[in-house]
Amino acid sequence: MDIEGRVAVVTGGGRRVGKALALSLATAGADVFVHYNSSADAAVEVRDEIESFGRRAAVGSVDLSNPAEAPQLIDMAREALGDVSILVNSASGFATDTIEDVTLDGWQRSHDLTLVSPVFLTQAFAGALPVDDEGAVINVTDVRTMTPYLKHFSYIVAKGAVDTFTRAAALALAPRIRVNAVALGVILPPPGEDAAYVESLAAELPLQRVGGTAPVVEAALSLIRNDFVTGEIIRLDGGSHLT
Ligand SMILES: NC(=O)c1ccc[n+]([C@@H]2O[C@H](COP(=O)([O-])OP(=O)(O)OC[C@H]3O[C@@H](n4cnc5c(N)ncnc54)[C@H](OP(=O)(O)O)[C@@H]3O)[C@@H](O)[C@H]2O)c1
Repeated sequence: MDIEGRVAVVTGGGRRVGKALALSLATAGADVFVHYNSSADAAVEVRDEIESFGRRAAVGSVDLSNPAEAPQLIDMAREALGDVSILVNSASGFATDTIEDVTLDGWQRSHDLTLVSPVFLTQAFAGALPVDDEGAVINVTDVRTMTPYLKHFSYIVAKGAVDTFTRAAALALAPRIRVNAVALGVILPPPGEDAAYVESLAAELPLQRVGGTAPVVEAALSLIRNDFVTGEIIRLDGGSHLT
């Protein structure tokens, strides 16, 4: 797919990984709808930055912990920028819980935000895609689905289902829509942690460094552009899956 002139929706596009993905899509020539939940000012800054280099952009808020609201995002983006060809599901929770203390509410919330909303956003995206157009979806998942965290139990189980969702949607929506994922390792410090924390984690990796957002962006753009790849999950993890 040629990204130039396409409309992309990026969930959680106001900050961190989502922001990097939104800016990179715009740099590649897309017009971008920047979704946010609580980071309104940050999302507006991303919109302004995109407009400053000559692309169209708009912002909109939907609380993705309520999946019933998720499809509205596609309507909002179409109204602002036109038909949407690229969907990036980056927004997520990162709940701290274990199998011993997780509550039904906490489990439900993790799944609603991390899994169920991306599913129904993708359904809305596919339903709105013009019949003569092609589409690309990128899910943002976590390399630790293969070696699960014990202290982010509901989150990592939901991300594991995102991996399966990626493959199932790729099969169901082919050939017009390709669905791929990027699985992140040590990319940025998690909320509440500093650079020293991730540097200590990175020291244990085969590649011995923190990823930053550049490798994520490069993989996502490549998956969107490459018309013969679907159902693929690319690990950006500095080799952690090898150890
Ligand atoms: N950072 C890493 O090293 C790393 C590692 C593994 C996987 N990942 C995955 O990469 C993606 C981005 O990570 P990140 O570290 O940039 O995320 P983050 O800092 O945890 O930010 C979460 C994002 O999700 C949005 N969000 C949270 N609650 C929401 C809600 N109820 N409704 C709608 N949006 C909501 C936030 O939007 P607002 O700020 O507007 O509220 C924010 O943009 C996530 O899928 C994450 O699981 C990241």
